[in-house]
Amino acid sequence: MPTSTKLRFGILGAARINERLLPAIVEASNAELVAIASRRPGAAAETLAKYAPGRQGVRTYDDLDALLDDEAVQAVYLPMANHEHAEWALKAIRAGKHVLCEKPMALTVADIEAIEAAAREHKVVVMEGFMYRFHPQHARVRALVDSGLIGEVRAVHASYSFIMRPARLYRLAESTGRGGGAMWDIGPYAIHSARWCFETAPVAVTALAKYVESGADVTTSGVIDFGDGRHAHFDVSFEWARQSSYTLVGTKGGVKCHAAWQLPEDEPLVSWWTEDGQRGEERLPAANHFVLEVEHFCDCVLNGKAPLLTLEDAKLNCQAIAAVLESAASGRTVSLAD
Ligand SMILES: NC(=O)c1ccc[n+]([C@@H]2O[C@H](COP(=O)([O-])OP(=O)(O)OC[C@H]3O[C@@H](n4cnc5c(N)ncnc54)[C@H](OP(=O)(O)O)[C@@H]3O)[C@@H](O)[C@H]2O)c1
Repeated sequence: MPTSTKLRFGILGAARINERLLPAIVEASNAELVAIASRRPGAAAETLAKYAPGRQGVRTYDDLDALLDDEAVQAVYLPMANHEHAEWALKAIRAGKHVLCEKPMALTVADIEAIEAAAREHKVVVMEGFMYRFHPQHARVRALVDSGLIGEVRAVHASYSFIMRPARLYRLAESTGRGGGAMWDIGPYAIHSARWCFETAPVAVTALAKYVESGADVTTSGVIDFGDGRHAHFDVSFEWARQSSYTLVGTKGGVKCHAAWQLPEDEPLVSWWTEDGQRGEERLPAANHFVLEVEHFCDCVLNGKAPLLTLEDAKLNCQAIAAVLESAASGRTVSLAD
């Protein structure tokens, strides 16, 4: 049993997303940042200086394995490129570390099964980093739906798009098979939200995509069939104006979460309407979902609680994303039913 009230974290990779997660680990009440590693000489120290200026006592390594050998590190945050997640999650687990892994956890369900088996064997906690789920605005959406306000949920629209800045074009450098493109980058959020809205597994997917030369999708749209006429429409794009919302449409009305996958400057806003003419708009307090995510993960490890985001959930999300990519590539509907 851990004796500390803070989980000691190492960061495996000097990724750009450390801009958000490194300060979150520093800020989280039950986490302590003890190390960061990168394969590029000097990049770990540079990242630390940039996102936690003046922070003392954090070891920096120019070798990822050295961080895994560091006995002070109890858990790793894994923000590497998508195609590297499975390999390094397994290495970290086998080194006895708990793992908070960026989405998508892996590119195949088989890889997540291997992670699951290793986590069980080494008795460590592994969680996929869907930070958005920890923002209180989604609990408010759920409460509105559970109140019966909009009746039975029959449709979901999930849209995530923005114009890709030149500095982020590396996300289109790899083919979809190597985890590149919009579907593996922002698609996981749209799919995850749709599954969360319906609270059930999808049965089929139909999608279409536009690709760039590398084989990465720059835009993908589709319909996910949740059975009995319940449909989730989604679109993700790096060349459409910014959208970051999901809407649930029921038999009596609808609820919209306007800034679902929040940037720090976004204001949480939930609105709703009903067939009989009621309208509501709720501005909720700002919250840092990255800090809340880290605190939840630490709480699970330190106090033996089950993570909100399970590996079963990670497998279902991965399976749906793979089906979207298969459908877009083949032009056919892909069944997910056994
Ligand atoms: N939760 C969120 O809000 C959120 C947002 C964005 C991305 N993500 C996820 O986070 C992960 C990382 O995304 P990212 O965009 O931050 O990736 P990234 O900057 O490309 O970093 C990925 C890996 O590439 C290496 N790298 C970083 N900068 C590099 C550079 N300038 N030149 C060469 N190599 C470099 C790093 O490894 P070394 O340090 O070992 O070289 C790093 O671990 C992905 O899985 C992504 O899906 C999550």
